Amino acid sequence: MLLALPLLLALSNALRAYGVGEQCGSNPTLDPRPHSVSISEFGAVGDGKTLNTIAFQNAIFYLKSFADKGGAQLYVPPGKWLTGSFNLTSHLTLFLEKGAVIIGSQDPSHWEVIEPLPSYGRGLEVPGGRYQSLINGYKLHDVVITGNNGTIDGMGMVWWEWYSSHSLNHSRPHLVELVASDYVVVSNLTFLNAPLYSIHPVYCSNVHIQNVSISTPPESPHTIGIVPDSSDNVCIEDCILALGFDAITLKSGWDEYGIAYGRPTENVHIRRVHLQASSGSAIAFGSDMSGGISNVLVEHVHLFNSNSGIGFRTTEGRGGYMKEIVLSDIQMENIHTAIAVTGHCGSHPDDKFDPNALPILDQITLKDVTGKNITIAGNFAGIEKSPFTNICLSNITFSINPVSPLITWECSNVYGFSESVFPEPCSELGNPTNSSSSSCYYLQSISGKTAEL
Ligand SMILES: *[C@@H]1O[C@H](CO)[C@@H](O)[C@H](O)[C@H]1NC(C)=O
Ligand SMILES: *[C@@H]1O[C@H](CO)[C@@H](O)[C@H](O)[C@H]1NC(C)=O
Ligand SMILES: *[C@@H]1O[C@H](CO)[C@@H](O)[C@H](O)[C@H]1NC(C)=O
Ligand SMILES: *[C@@H]1O[C@H](CO)[C@@H](O)[C@H](O)[C@H]1NC(C)=O
Ligand SMILES: *[C@@H]1O[C@H](CO)[C@@H](O)[C@H](O)[C@H]1NC(C)=O
Repeated sequence: MLLALPLLLALSNALRAYGVGEQCGSNPTLDPRPHSVSISEFGAVGDGKTLNTIAFQNAIFYLKSFADKGGAQLYVPPGKWLTGSFNLTSHLTLFLEKGAVIIGSQDPSHWEVIEPLPSYGRGLEVPGGRYQSLINGYKLHDVVITGNNGTIDGMGMVWWEWYSSHSLNHSRPHLVELVASDYVVVSNLTFLNAPLYSIHPVYCSNVHIQNVSISTPPESPHTIGIVPDSSDNVCIEDCILALGFDAITLKSGWDEYGIAYGRPTENVHIRRVHLQASSGSAIAFGSDMSGGISNVLVEHVHLFNSNSGIGFRTTEGRGGYMKEIVLSDIQMENIHTAIAVTGHCGSHPDDKFDPNALPILDQITLKDVTGKNITIAGNFAGIEKSPFTNICLSNITFSINPVSPLITWECSNVYGFSESVFPEPCSELGNPTNSSSSSCYYLQSISGKTAEL
């Protein structure tokens, strides 16, 4: 596991050269750490009542000294481990045994308040700072958060209530946030009841999220499962997510702050995931996308019981782009709007945004999609001054929701190509009269061959 830094850099350059599709190419190698301590050795009590923040902080401070000795593991045995927010360190594995539950404190004073992210300029929900996440990493290398189906439970009910009653003093925290870190693995765990997001890698590279299960109740406001944010070389695979708002959302910063920070989300591979999103979208792009989002491959996914299946969101003033994105082998069931694409979504952080910063949506391909019990096939609401272009729809079949009449497609300020799509899309996305299949974007596969239509 412990590779010398120059080798890590060489590896990351090699990954970049391969392009998308390689992010999930190899399983992360998780060699056991040569040192391991249990949280109970640091005075922690797993009774669900004792606050263990200091024990976690002390254990991790102690394990810091093993960073240059092959790294170390912090073992969390079965029990209910109540804690406030704490920070991880490099070359660390946090391992949650079966029956181990890390529980987030419901007292906001146990959650530190930190500066807003520079690419957002302010808290997402309340101006100013934000609560730090339950488990944090800042500028780390080689961090593994894993277990034998242990659980991280954010006890988000109080936060959802404060959000809904407008009594938050700062923006809600997440369960796990890694900032400016690389070689991160999150696997084999269950995440419950996040106050806001469950897993938030931001300004990160080489992130592998595998075999996790994430849920929040359908009514939990704006909760999202996994949010790759201004990060590159991200793999998300074999996960089961059921969230109140979106299941997986790709983001890259907010208006003038995101444009100035200028770090895109790119080279993302998502596969073999089962996603439910009650009030949002199972897979979403934006609406905060000012640093750009590109080179994304989503394949072999099952989207169900959701308000929308695939969503792209942006608005004037965002700048940035969403391009070179392929979604294929998608199965949808019981979804109100299968494809929801809008250029009129989202508020601005403050009045300093540039209304002339127009976002670009270009080269998006959806192929081999089936949907059952769909009410609206596609709703494309582009931006007049920056229409959405090169949208390619191929081999798509949606079947009608038997109880409500099918409203087929709604399109404005969008151009693209389609073939073998049922029901037939609007003329802007019609047959080669408007454009040709050359407008279809396909990602370069690893072998260098271009995928066939
Ligand atoms: C945790 O890290 C953040 C920086 O991300 C820092 O502001 C905070 O003080 C750290 N907390 C502790 C207890 O070390
Ligand atoms: C997924 O995680 C569960 C425990 O959480 C484990 O039993 C199972 O073997 C894991 N599957 C894979 C493919 O890693
Ligand atoms: C993992 O744990 C959750 C509860 O924390 C449970 O609902 C789920 O069935 C477990 N999964 C496996 C594969 O053991
Ligand atoms: C917000 O701050 C006020 C004043 O300090 C305090 O009374 C209130 O409990 C705080 N609300 C939350 C949800 O922390
Ligand atoms: C997940 O758990 C399975 C079963 O214990 C193990 O084989 C696998 O290596 C683990 N994967 C990761 C990425 O932790």
